[in-house]
Amino acid sequence: MFPKIIITIDGFSSCGKSTLAKQLAQKLHYTYIDSGAMYRAITLYFLRNNIDRSNEKEIRHALQDISLEFILNKHSGNSEIYLNGENVEYIIRDLVVAEKVSEVAALKDVRAFAVAAQQKMGIDKGIVMDGRDIGTVVFPDAEVKIFMVADEAVRVERRFAEMFDKNPNISLDEIKTNIAMRDYIDSNRKVSPLRKADDAIELDNTHLTEKQQLDFALKLVRKVCEPVL
Ligand code: CDP
Repeated sequence: MFPKIIITIDGFSSCGKSTLAKQLAQKLHYTYIDSGAMYRAITLYFLRNNIDRSNEKEIRHALQDISLEFILNKHSGNSEIYLNGENVEYIIRDLVVAEKVSEVAALKDVRAFAVAAQQKMGIDKGIVMDGRDIGTVVFPDAEVKIFMVADEAVRVERRFAEMFDKNPNISLDEIKTNIAMRDYIDSNRKVSPLRKADDAIELDNTHLTEKQQLDFALKLVRKVCEPVL
């Protein structure tokens, strides 16, 4: 049994962060938290309720009406996100949400709201959380920090394959544009921009299989945990 630590996985869009995070959590019997799902669910709420992103008062009011929860789906073994009691795990992956999420995630009140909730989820440790600012802002003292990168063309292909299954009308170009736009906004926003934490280990998985990247991450975890095992 591994001691409970915090593992953070940050990186650009469609690098395979969630695949690695889920497998790592399963292997270690940890909880996996998809922080991006939280920003996507908030964005869905903003879109549905026509929240004006330039109006701070309106944003703060809206956030007061938002409750986010992760609930385990016993069939798939994955936890799914609920927005005010509604399972929105699948609808938030839609391109309509993806097109607006980075603008919403750049708002300081939205970030404060999400980061506070994420830090609460990490109180008992034993979690793997993926996102953009997890190793830098949410858990700066995390025991293991991974920063994932992969070639752009590979990232676009991966996301296209994932989204094409659900929406055969989607084009490679739409995905490419969306990924490039989100990476740009995420890296250049004022509040907690996406960047590698100084003490994060870079993992380039362009040419790695899922097993190889999992082995790489497990090695890092063992290195940290072995002295206390
Ligand atoms: O799956 P993918 O990597 O494309 O995105 P995601 O993890 O679902 O995150 C969606 C968006 O949420 C990102 O493009 C960021 O704008 C935002 N996000 C963030 O700002 N901070 C995080 N910790 C996680 C996501």
